[in-house]
Order: sequence, then structure tokens, then C-alpha cells
Amino acid sequence: MLADLDPESFQLDPDDVERRITENTRALMPVHMMGQPCHLERFLEIGRKHNLTVIEDACQAHLSEYQGKKLGSIAPLGCFSFQTSKTIACGEGGAVIGDDEALMDKVYTVHNHGTSRRGKTEVIGPKYRMNELEAALLLGQLEGVKERFQRRNENAAYLTSRLKGCPGLVPQKLYPGTTSGSFYLYAMRYRKEHFNNVDRARFLKAMAAEGVPLSPYITIGLHREPWVDHIVQSRVYRKTFSERRLKEFRDAMSCPRCDQVCEEMAMIWASGPFLGTQADMDDIADAVLKVYENRDQLASV
Ligand SMILES: Cc1ncc(COP(=O)(O)O)c(C=O)c1O
Repeated sequence: MLADLDPESFQLDPDDVERRITENTRALMPVHMMGQPCHLERFLEIGRKHNLTVIEDACQAHLSEYQGKKLGSIAPLGCFSFQTSKTIACGEGGAVIGDDEALMDKVYTVHNHGTSRRGKTEVIGPKYRMNELEAALLLGQLEGVKERFQRRNENAAYLTSRLKGCPGLVPQKLYPGTTSGSFYLYAMRYRKEHFNNVDRARFLKAMAAEGVPLSPYITIGLHREPWVDHIVQSRVYRKTFSERRLKEFRDAMSCPRCDQVCEEMAMIWASGPFLGTQADMDDIADAVLKVYENRDQLASV
């Protein structure tokens, strides 16, 4: 089951998650979106209250810290992605970490096509093993990884301070307890009411003309993608669940604040420009402020 977002932080809203818990819920999986910490304390609290395991999706959040602890290492399980776009990448691959031996044993079995460390095929599982060649690529990137992380944090903080001059572009809200973020992406909310109600597409076009390409990132929420109808209409689901249950599932796929985020978000891939200098951040902020100051002309872009 999916849940809705906090439109200011772009993160999963813990209250909405708690509302959607049912007797079928087995785990909660908050995502640290853009590599910045989600409201993890609340998720851990909800997990304890409902006796549910929390799995941190730290796929975008390498090295980020919340309340002084590394993301991915706080909940019983944390997962990371090393897919091409990530700040530590090897093409495809990932890692799951945890300190509960029994749980990690199960994780091993599932990722190893269902075959356990004991050599028995115990469950059905996919083959998610990463190979050594990819691991060697990752190891090669560890040198300087902290400096790059630090640079992204410093540049993000500086850009955020400069964007205060533009009320129409609001940087991602960070929760209390955020010590640092990976700034895999630097995301902002485009508030068109501050730009004479000109739609985001025109704003992005004007920014590109200033040499600062921003992206809308995700333009449609997962709840609106065709997979929902695909599974609801599939033979196996129709055989397993009643029509009423499938309708309930379909109807629950409503996340209006996610829709809002998809309409308002503008972001920068931080691993490129954010590894640059403060002058690069000034170029980005100057372009934003120039477009904002000339917002009267945006309608004709
Ligand atoms: C937040 C988040 N979760 C999960 C994934 C999936 O990771 P992978 O592509 O390594 O399977 C990604 C990125 O791809 C991601 O950004």
C-alpha cells in the first residue's frame, strides 16, 4: 500500500502512513527522498506502536545523518542503491544492512534466489547478487567520497541561503534532527502564485535559457502509473481477492499531495553542479532571481 506525501519535504507523511495501516501491513518503508532524512523518529514510533518492522529506503541517502546517526543504519533494516545515477554507483547493484542476524539471514536467502547460507533452497527468491567487478568499481569511489559529500552539503546550504530572495522557489523542507543530507538531488517547490501564475513549464524554459537546466523530476505519482490497473485486472489477483477487496485497493490509490508535488517540483541533479564551487551556486541563484525579477515577461516565454 502506498501513502501520501508531505508537500513541503516531498517525504512520506507518517500520519498518513499510520492511517493506512491495516491488519495486512507487515512493514513500513519510509524513503529518504533526495537523500535527506525523512521524519524517521515518527516512523520508528509508529513501528513500535503497531509492532511493524521499519525498513529505511536510503537508496539516495549515502552518508547522510539523522540525529547524528547514518541513515540506513537506524531502523532494523536499511537499503542502498548503487545504480548509475547514485552518488556512489556501479551501474546496477545495491546493499541491505542490519544488525539483527536472523533478519539478515532471511535477506541473504531472498537475494540469493531463495538459497540460504546453509545451502538449502528454502523460499522463492530472485537473484539480486552483485558481482565482484561491480564491487571493485564501488571501492574505487570510496576515496574522496566524504569530501564530495561535504561539498554538496556546503553548496546546498549556500544555495538555500541565496534562494531566500525568491519566495516562489522554496527548497525542500528538512526535518528537525537532520544533521546532513546526501543531496543526491536538490529539490525545490515552484510556487506559481509568486510568478504571476505562470505554469512551471515556462519557468523551467526560462531557467534553461539562462543556462541552468532544472528538471520536474517525477511528473506522475506511482499511484497513477498503469501497474495499478495491471495487477487489479490480472488473473492471479482476480482469483486471489474478491472484487470488493480489489476495488478497495484501487480506491485507496489516492495521494492528492503527491499529485501536488508532481506539479510543483523543480530539481537539480546535485552530483554535477554541487561538486563545483560557490560561484557555481551563485550562477544558479542569480538565474533564479533574474527570472523572478522579470516574471512579468514569463507569459511570453
Ligand atoms: C529512493 C529509491 N528507492 C529505490 C531505488 C531502486 O534502486 P535500484 O535501482 O538500485 O533497484 C531507487 C533508485 O533507483 C531510489 O531512488
